[in-house]
Amino acid sequence: MTDLEAVLKLVRADPKIKGVLVVTDGIFSMTGALVPLPDFVRIAKKYGAKTLVDEAHSVGVVGEAGRGVEEYFNMPGQIDILVGTFSKAFGFVGGYVVARKSIIDYLQFTAAAWIFSTSLPSCILAGINEAVHTHIQDKTIIAKLRRNRDYLWENIKRQLLVPIPIRVGAIMPLLFSSNESLLKAVETLARHKIKCGAVTFPAIKRGVGLLRIIPTASHSFEDFDRLSEALAEIEGRYGFTKAPSQ
Ligand SMILES: Cc1ncc(COP(=O)(O)O)c(C=O)c1O
Repeated sequence: MTDLEAVLKLVRADPKIKGVLVVTDGIFSMTGALVPLPDFVRIAKKYGAKTLVDEAHSVGVVGEAGRGVEEYFNMPGQIDILVGTFSKAFGFVGGYVVARKSIIDYLQFTAAAWIFSTSLPSCILAGINEAVHTHIQDKTIIAKLRRNRDYLWENIKRQLLVPIPIRVGAIMPLLFSSNESLLKAVETLARHKIKCGAVTFPAIKRGVGLLRIIPTASHSFEDFDRLSEALAEIEGRYGFTKAPSQ
């Protein structure tokens, strides 16, 4: 937030720059960190900047009903543009933009992906509709996700003493000091029949590797026990560095 304010100060000192849009993830995709939304919005407003929050990793997960960081911080209507994807919590494809009508009208006439690309087929739209409604109506899904997440994180904390970022989203990052040790970790997980996202440059900085563990509502506690066993083996052989702090 200190950097954001410093950049906005610089930008506002340039009379040629008119409109300013500041963009953030709700839950950061690699670290699982939560945006400090009240500060983000306060600083943006102080410098007359508009705000855009990408809820890809927060919609369906964060907030009482899973409506994302806007709900979590109880700040309805205070973000100018919300974007999100149907490809994560909802298990589909495609995404959405939520904004006031003038912004949506503007996008409909200027966004190349909207004007020049084929729209999503109706069977996909019907599926998205069903997935979102199921998620809203069946409160057990989000409750199960949270139970699973808490179980997994407690397991990992107890067994491996890995520092845990704040438990709001579902992303559990484990950092490795090299790509080689990350690849060995992925091989070990595969031997335990576990598939897990391995992240390297350019998604994160060069030279380190990151295992991005994401529990879902359909995992079972047994799945996590198996993961813990595999992680204990990896920790013994290759070691994690540290989990990025919140
Ligand atoms: C923060 C963030 N925004 C947007 C996306 C894009 O989602 P999609 O693959 O549905 O286009 C991703 C995908 O990983 C993401 O992490």
